[in-house]
Amino acid sequence: MGRCLHTTVKFLRKTGTEQKWLERHLKDPFVKASKQQQYRCRSAFKLLEIDDKLCVLRPGFSVLDCGAAPGAWSQVAVERVNALGTDAAVPTGFVLGVDLLRISPLEGAVFLSETDMAEPSTLRAIQSLLPLGKADVILSDMAPNATGIKELDHQKLIRLCLGLLDIAQSILKPKGTMLCKFWDGSEARLLQNRLKEQFQDVRTIKPQASRKDSAESYYLARLYRGK
Ligand SMILES: C[S@@+](CC[C@H](N)C(=O)[O-])C[C@H]1O[C@@H](n2cnc3c(N)ncnc32)[C@H](O)[C@@H]1O
Repeated sequence: MGRCLHTTVKFLRKTGTEQKWLERHLKDPFVKASKQQQYRCRSAFKLLEIDDKLCVLRPGFSVLDCGAAPGAWSQVAVERVNALGTDAAVPTGFVLGVDLLRISPLEGAVFLSETDMAEPSTLRAIQSLLPLGKADVILSDMAPNATGIKELDHQKLIRLCLGLLDIAQSILKPKGTMLCKFWDGSEARLLQNRLKEQFQDVRTIKPQASRKDSAESYYLARLYRGK
């Protein structure tokens, strides 16, 4: 998974790379802000920024959050779609998170832990949990375990995104939105073209909170053409 760690500094012997990572992590303003604002992970700020600029999440929306652990994006989604019904003046939304890992419970969200998005049976489970079996927004911050071989990791993530696009055909509402992370590489254009076939508006986003030296970017695909 990504480096969403609740840092506990222990006096363990560290390699040079681990030491450098820890120093960067402790200085990172988004790590500090996520602790202050009680987000489970700094990645919350990527979604907050995207949503502030492009209004992806609205009160009343049903959201599927793929690769949800430890749950920071789901926290943001619960707030923005009013999943707890805290604001009686606007509709109440719904958030469903799915991850290979266990996700600690979060008020306002339903989680499918230890569940693989790439397994065919997962689609049925998702359909049975989403209101009327449909989502307004599909979020994917999924990241496969990195092997360190850049091209291989890139291809694995593109496969996951393409699989998600197949799932979208069964669950995404017409005019719906899909936001998915990818690592740049030779097949990014293929994913972008597939998204363009199925959505009217596709743009590439690199949020401030996404580390500059990371190959990570997001495709935001809007106005799903539907079947
Ligand atoms: C960067 S983390 C997501 C962080 C999350 N957005 C948050 O804000 O807390 C990527 C997650 O993708 C999950 N993942 C990778 N492959 C997956 C798959 N096939 N099915 C479900 N989850 C997957 C990993 O287990 C990991 O927890």
